[in-house]
Amino acid sequence: MSEKRSLWGSKVGFLLAAIGSAVGLGNIWRFSYMAYENGGGAFLIPYLTALLCTGLPLMILEYALGHREKASPPLAFARIHHLWEPLGWWMPVVAFSGITFFYTVIISWCMNYFCLSFNLGWGADTQAFFFNRFLRVSDSPFVLGGIRWPILAGTVLTWLICWSICYRDVRHGIEKASTIFMPLLVVLTLILVGWSLRLDGALDAVKEYYLKADLSKISLFTAAGRKVWVAAFGQIFFTLSLGFGIMITYASYLPKKTDITGNALVTCFLNCLYSVIAGFAVFGTIGFMAKAKGVPFEEAITGGPGLAFVVYPEAINQLPLLNHIFGVLFFLVLIVAGISSMISLIEAFSCSVCDKFSISRKKASSVICGIGLFGSILFTTRAGLLILDIVDHFINNYALILGGIVECVVVGWLLKSQVMRRHVNKSGGLRLLPLWDISVRFITPGILFIIVSGALLGDFSAAYGNYPVNALLLYGGGVLFFTWLTAFVLSHFPWKSEKLKVKHDPDKSLF
Ligand code: PFF
Repeated sequence: MSEKRSLWGSKVGFLLAAIGSAVGLGNIWRFSYMAYENGGGAFLIPYLTALLCTGLPLMILEYALGHREKASPPLAFARIHHLWEPLGWWMPVVAFSGITFFYTVIISWCMNYFCLSFNLGWGADTQAFFFNRFLRVSDSPFVLGGIRWPILAGTVLTWLICWSICYRDVRHGIEKASTIFMPLLVVLTLILVGWSLRLDGALDAVKEYYLKADLSKISLFTAAGRKVWVAAFGQIFFTLSLGFGIMITYASYLPKKTDITGNALVTCFLNCLYSVIAGFAVFGTIGFMAKAKGVPFEEAITGGPGLAFVVYPEAINQLPLLNHIFGVLFFLVLIVAGISSMISLIEAFSCSVCDKFSISRKKASSVICGIGLFGSILFTTRAGLLILDIVDHFINNYALILGGIVECVVVGWLLKSQVMRRHVNKSGGLRLLPLWDISVRFITPGILFIIVSGALLGDFSAAYGNYPVNALLLYGGGVLFFTWLTAFVLSHFPWKSEKLKVKHDPDKSLF
């Protein structure tokens, strides 16, 4: 039975959901480390340039496509040209099977650490605890070594929470959850920032390593400087959750009169603002820990899971008082940020399935979450961290970026960017300038092409992370191949013919 397409209850509800998707673990553990490594405050220059040149134009593109077609990525692509449908499927399939399988497992780590915070259960040696006792990481990605039951338990709980949200229609599920999660996230983060900055040594570290701009690191005349620019473009893409079809899906639930450009501006701006604010907490906490332990800041800082599960617990150990509460707060922030991104990943796939097979979203989300839980089991094994690292590398460097290039080609060249710009301007709100056409036709795909070529060159010159080549091929190549195959198969089921026909308003209006 097919259902009527649901709509967001309010503009704010939509924005909160979109920002909830964008603000994720990466805003906390990826941005700060990148800023530290790449010139501190100076990193903001390539970061903001990337935001304006590729992030914002692509966000507008995704919103516009979803809004114009009122459809998930495969249906929107199929309407433009049926040959492109597999690529429309590829994005949500990657979001689902390439990311949610391990993203839930990371949220489960956060849940476990949330519980451990109550008695600082990680002990004095946080590094040994995380790798040897909690994850019990095996020696090779081929040696699965059995399931880690506490991790599986958290994973089941995460899937259950996500299912209970995605199962309902968008207004009563995702929108309602986002209106609770996002304000909660902001309040918790601000408490954490305020608390961190009051710690001994925090302000000095913030001034010295975060706010001080080392402009020499971003010079376009050096190879190292150019790498920083490429890294900034990659980060913008990842942080805004672009290239997965999520924003296409979310925008498909918008009403006819919508300020597309304005919404895209707000989403981009608030997401990046969140990263910059969270950076104060990270630099402050690490600065405090470095001072308390008498180690140089350079040795203390790290990014990714090492920051959350090794460095932060160590800093929490050093706190003079209320350390349990600090830990609970920090891991709660990660859990909330993670779940609000997770639901958007599930939604992109589930909306695509509902569009194509005309089944109810209750049925679709139940089956999808069931399959997702099954797929996550691989990452709850002792080899989980290693496999996750490989899969994440391939998804971020290839699938995500290729998704972005495809969107630019389909909208910029096949549909024609002018047609889309006219649609945006007819929908009301801020006016989209012709500069946008140049960006989505030339600048954005060109830069994404440079990023993907750089990644290819890097992977061919040295095996990523020193993993055995066959492990990279099996897990990294495997996920790319498997997602592509799934997309290809799904695109071969027929559409109900009325779905492909859509009456757009005539495009005779002015620019
Ligand atoms: N934007 C999220 C972050 O910065 O952590 C990560 C993410 C979530 C990427 C959802 C992609 C996605 F579809």
